[in-house]
Amino acid sequence: MEVIIQSDSEKGSEIAARLIARQVREKPRSVLGLATGGTPLALYRLLARMHRGEGLDFGSVTTFNLDEYAGLAADHPASYHHFMEQNLFKHLDIPPAQRHIPDGLAKDIPAHCEAYEKAIREAGGIDLQLLGLGSDGHLGFNEPGSSLASRTRIKTLTERTRRDNRHNFSSAEEVPHHVITMGLGTITDSRMCLLLAFGKAKAHAVRLAVEGPVTASVPGSLLQFHQRAKVILDEEAASELERAGYYRWVYQNKPPWQIDL
Ligand code: PGA
Repeated sequence: MEVIIQSDSEKGSEIAARLIARQVREKPRSVLGLATGGTPLALYRLLARMHRGEGLDFGSVTTFNLDEYAGLAADHPASYHHFMEQNLFKHLDIPPAQRHIPDGLAKDIPAHCEAYEKAIREAGGIDLQLLGLGSDGHLGFNEPGSSLASRTRIKTLTERTRRDNRHNFSSAEEVPHHVITMGLGTITDSRMCLLLAFGKAKAHAVRLAVEGPVTASVPGSLLQFHQRAKVILDEEAASELERAGYYRWVYQNKPPWQIDL
């Protein structure tokens, strides 16, 4: 696991944008795993700017989003379909047929989840999976206690996550209890995992995920088993890390042949 600490979220997002841009330039038919929430917003703005200003071409890219609320239609303002359309897809050139988000209104949820897994496999697997971290340590919507081998399926949100996401809904009661999410096994099958976490509210979850034991109680800790996981943090999110000084030194003193950003 490589831990990259930046002074603020804008700088962290710039590194993430450069990594994704490089991935797409090197392999135009890349399969990207995408995330929603407040964390990737600055990154998505940067990708839109690179597309507009530098001609970064997403036309051959395929995407798979991590999750969606069960019971929300794609046009619901709090749905992740709506989020992706507004914050990324309408600014890029990814053909709609190449974008995938779990269907919150799927009638047969197990069959839909199986089909989602199959579509990921048939696309060749995910090259780079973008991730946020829940304040309770979740990845995607894999809440604490999720099987470390889980695949795409229905999950029930913790009250903490429902509270964290309350601001997207008109009332607390309206926040769904159920979601469809890629599993932890699905996520860690990706060839590269790129986790972003910014702000003080994430500091404890970051500490547990990066320096705690690997446990289903902190789904983010599973990244410790991944061969190519990068964790990009701002100072606030890194503030509880014991080895922060070491991570900074490592990043600032990489031999030139190892610098991949
Ligand atoms: P956030 O959510 O980006 O809105 O903080 C992250 C997550 O819940 O995974």
